[in-house]
Amino acid sequence: MIKVGIVGSTGYVAGELIRCLQHHPKVEVDFLYSHSQPGELVGSIHQDLGYLDLQFTDQVNAEVDVLFLCLGHGNSKKFLEKYSFAKTTKIIDLSNDFRLNKDAVFQEKEFVYGLVEANKEKIKQAKHIANPGCFATAIQLALLPLAKNELLKDELHIHALTGSTGAGQKLTETSHFSWRNQNVSIYKAFQHQHLDEIGETLKDLQSGFSEEINFLPLRGDFTRGIFASVYTKSSLSQEELFQHYKTYYQDSEFVHVTEETINLKQVVNTNMAFIQVQKIDGKVLITSVIDNLLKGAAGQAIQNMNLLFDFPENAGLQLKANYF
Ligand SMILES: NC(=O)c1ccc[n+]([C@@H]2O[C@H](COP(=O)([O-])OP(=O)(O)OC[C@H]3O[C@@H](n4cnc5c(N)ncnc54)[C@H](OP(=O)(O)O)[C@@H]3O)[C@@H](O)[C@H]2O)c1
Repeated sequence: MIKVGIVGSTGYVAGELIRCLQHHPKVEVDFLYSHSQPGELVGSIHQDLGYLDLQFTDQVNAEVDVLFLCLGHGNSKKFLEKYSFAKTTKIIDLSNDFRLNKDAVFQEKEFVYGLVEANKEKIKQAKHIANPGCFATAIQLALLPLAKNELLKDELHIHALTGSTGAGQKLTETSHFSWRNQNVSIYKAFQHQHLDEIGETLKDLQSGFSEEINFLPLRGDFTRGIFASVYTKSSLSQEELFQHYKTYYQDSEFVHVTEETINLKQVVNTNMAFIQVQKIDGKVLITSVIDNLLKGAAGQAIQNMNLLFDFPENAGLQLKANYF
């Protein structure tokens, strides 16, 4: 058994990590660090976990095998400045503090970008992981096969709709039920912070790629999931495009490629991504759905941990969709 510590334990992503890790055959949760609720039972915040005899703490065990940092952007660096961990501790950070090439080394710690479907071999050898953003995951999964085959020839157009859990547990104007219910809005049009990590991955795979990435993020009136549609010009046929996607993801544990219409409920509460590929009037339209808290955050982080420790990739992640 390996020992893991979770930081930011009262948050949404940390809650999902705790839930999944209860069913991981190789993991024992060692501590649940919380700056706001030390001493309280986990069930006081994550109420479905009220049966667990686990408490939040403001102490860390510096010898844990894995440290999951589930803090808002900027706070992971601050936490690592405050606390030291053993050289053997592997850090999996869920914020955007270490995702970009320019931020990948911190305190002599080197972080590998944890998009499994692009970086699997590097992840297996990595010391620390920068887990991708949720929008970035859905969008990159839609584009990896095109970039890998140098087929991105024109600007990219992306619309992606996220549920309210994407913004974390803190109540805000746009997560208030009265505002969010039966409502949709655009935010950070063309300027979302995930554009940089998406751009870096695409250039890694297709070095000459320099086209615009036009991204409209939308808030949807549901709690979890991301529904992303991406389109660009393409001269390839439906058969050729579909074959590229099938080939790219043929060994992928969690990505399912289809020509059928997809919907969000196929993946909510799972670590799966469903990708639909369509060629229509000179354009390829790729639709990608994930659960923002699982494949977009905690599930992907566990998938990364499994690769780091040579555990089965789906350990702790054999989840079922909430289809009804
Ligand atoms: N939500 C998603 O769908 C999603 C997807 C991908 C990535 N992420 C990223 O994952 C990280 C966690 O997201 P989340 O949605 O779980 O956020 P969250 O629900 O807001 O939880 C963050 C936790 O961080 C701690 N915290 C809050 N303010 C802090 C401060 N000033 N200093 C130190 N700790 C503080 C709190 O835990 P304690 O009070 O227990 O310390 C809080 O519950 C973020 O970086 C987010 O961008 C989120």
